[in-house]
Amino acid sequence: MRPVRRNVVVHTPEEIVRIRRAARLTAQVRDEVARQARAGMTTWELDQVAGALIAETGGRSAFLNYHGYPGNICISVNDEVVHGIGRPDRVLLPTDIVSIDLGVQIDGACGDTALTFGLGAPLPAATENLIRATQDALMAGIARAVAGNYVRDISQAVEAVGRKAKVGIVRDFVGHGCGIKLHEPPEVPNYVTPVRGPQLLPGMVLAIEPMFNEGTCQVTVDRVDGWTVRTGDGSRSAHFEHMVLITDNEPEILTWQKTM
Ligand code: MF3
Ligand code: CO
Ligand code: CO
Repeated sequence: MRPVRRNVVVHTPEEIVRIRRAARLTAQVRDEVARQARAGMTTWELDQVAGALIAETGGRSAFLNYHGYPGNICISVNDEVVHGIGRPDRVLLPTDIVSIDLGVQIDGACGDTALTFGLGAPLPAATENLIRATQDALMAGIARAVAGNYVRDISQAVEAVGRKAKVGIVRDFVGHGCGIKLHEPPEVPNYVTPVRGPQLLPGMVLAIEPMFNEGTCQVTVDRVDGWTVRTGDGSRSAHFEHMVLITDNEPEILTWQKTM
């Protein structure tokens, strides 16, 4: 049984063992999907690659059928912010930037992690700045994921990096608790909120996930597929996400791998 405090989930040591494993497998699949992503593939093919790798772990996709989501993973290209669906008619180009977001569900626990990368062509300085700022913001947020701090301390650190890099900080989607369910309380916004939010306690697991745009922060949801989120101004977007365990000491990044 996990004690559910008013607005947070604190996991038991037994749950944390299972969450660690789900997160580690998710990170392994993330890095293998990123390694296999190539210009010339369709995003549907990349989704199939991910589906096979997830099956090899012995787990299943935490996203497939989640509120009816139709893909194994989310693949968001260029101006797509999050929740892009693999398509057989979308061939990846060397100039594209691709964000992949995925989760492995196994033994009653689940992972959630994302990263953004280019497919080989040199990127414009604005896009390099975007990707670097998003990853830096994630790491700055993680550094504040310490017991005794408040959720807003994480938000503040993420927002500060985004502001300094002069990128659009997406407000319509937020990070979240994660571990047994894909989305658990609390919400973890990427901007400072009027309330400081819950205090961080050992045993909480947070998915911290800045989404930044080269242009404005405004986003739209595809009216046909109901999922794909795009920037309102057509500018490019980047997304990085780690799961972090709050401990008595340093934050433990559960989705850490050599490559990210
Ligand atoms: N991975 C997303 C997140 O970071 C959620 C995806 S839900 C899906 O919270 F249904 F689109 F897969
Ligand atoms: Co995610
Ligand atoms: Co998430």
